[in-house]
Amino acid sequence: MSAATQLRLDIPEQRNAQQAQLHPELNRAHLRFVGLGKTYNGQQGPVAALHGIDLAIQRGEVFGIIGRSGAGKSSLIRTINRLEQPSSGRVLIDQVDIGEFDEDRLVALRRRIGMIFQHFNLMSAKTVWQNVELPLKVAGVPKEKRERKVRELLELVGLEGKHKAYPAQLSGGQKQRVGIARALVHDPQILLCDEATSALDPETTQSILGLLREINQRLGLTIVLITHEMAVIRDICDRVVVLEHGHIVEQGPVWEVFGNPQHEVSKTLLAQLQHALPQELQSRLQPQPPSPDAAVALRLQFTGSATDEPDLAALFSALGGRVRLLQGGVERIQGHALGQLLLAVSGSSLGTEQLRQRAGQWAQQVEVLGYVV
Ligand SMILES: Nc1ncnc2c1ncn2[C@@H]1O[C@H](COP(=O)(O)OP(=O)(O)OP(=O)(O)O)[C@@H](O)[C@H]1O
Ligand SMILES: [Mg+2]
Repeated sequence: MSAATQLRLDIPEQRNAQQAQLHPELNRAHLRFVGLGKTYNGQQGPVAALHGIDLAIQRGEVFGIIGRSGAGKSSLIRTINRLEQPSSGRVLIDQVDIGEFDEDRLVALRRRIGMIFQHFNLMSAKTVWQNVELPLKVAGVPKEKRERKVRELLELVGLEGKHKAYPAQLSGGQKQRVGIARALVHDPQILLCDEATSALDPETTQSILGLLREINQRLGLTIVLITHEMAVIRDICDRVVVLEHGHIVEQGPVWEVFGNPQHEVSKTLLAQLQHALPQELQSRLQPQPPSPDAAVALRLQFTGSATDEPDLAALFSALGGRVRLLQGGVERIQGHALGQLLLAVSGSSLGTEQLRQRAGQWAQQVEVLGYVV
């Protein structure tokens, strides 16, 4: 009997059937947190890190967790493999409450969950090959099988030629590839990534993200990923949750949260992806028209909820007069067009409010920034 079937047999059938009827989407969830709380015994007393977290992560999903430092991201992800013990609530994997596991079942569970870290956590006195082989040795896997597995994984992460190297002889990106190979030795169904690309330069980050995406698609792994880099979430995640002071403040498909963030924390975090108003333009903006021929500066936001990219010719002719592009860009996330245009409109027959309303037929949000000469 495989470990997965063994796990499933533990659920009382009745409760299972009842749940399936009430919440079919929850019942399909690969991972679920139900009223999860975590309080640490800190040196100056208890530290509440998580409160009543209810969250479902689907099988095969790449799921992002963001939030300010200290928000509880690592605490949350570490309850999945029970590196942290929840103080209240439950963690369910394939509908099975892992809180009831004894030591043996925890060991089995941890083998089915890979984890990679910011600082790679490799053994410096062991070669690449030995680092990947070690968890297999610990698990008592026979030599022949170990060799096959290590070879296969080093090939998957593109390190075939480096098997004799020591960690000190590798670049950051190569070290993380070893970390990924090691995380996959027991064919896990879940991969946890806590700041896995934070120590890497942008180009290496892209190559590691490419590898994670490949693993997600080829092996069908569910990936739960913490990062401070919003571009990582944009490039690889399907859905994202925003934590603040141990609470969920926002969650949804990435295009939706990134296109139209609702909570103050999400807006602040996502500001790093947005182009700030150029200093030079900012200094020229006036709250009132300084002269009758001053141009109205408009910010048009595309939040991805419309199906098409904006038709600029139609937009400009609807605004009338002379339309200058001050700044802008649109990108696609999960097939949705997101971005903004800063326009300066002068000589139009329309008043400021009319211009704002017209522009609103193309963009989901329009803001009058002020006036420029
Ligand atoms: N072992 C511990 N003992 C006491 N307090 C802890 C412990 N681990 C974490 N905390 C506290 O719990 C809160 C959440 O910490 P956590 O590490 O989950 O945050 P995080 O969102 O991962 O932050 P970062 O982005 O800086 O990694 C913080 O206030 C932290 O100080
Ligand atoms: Mg952390």
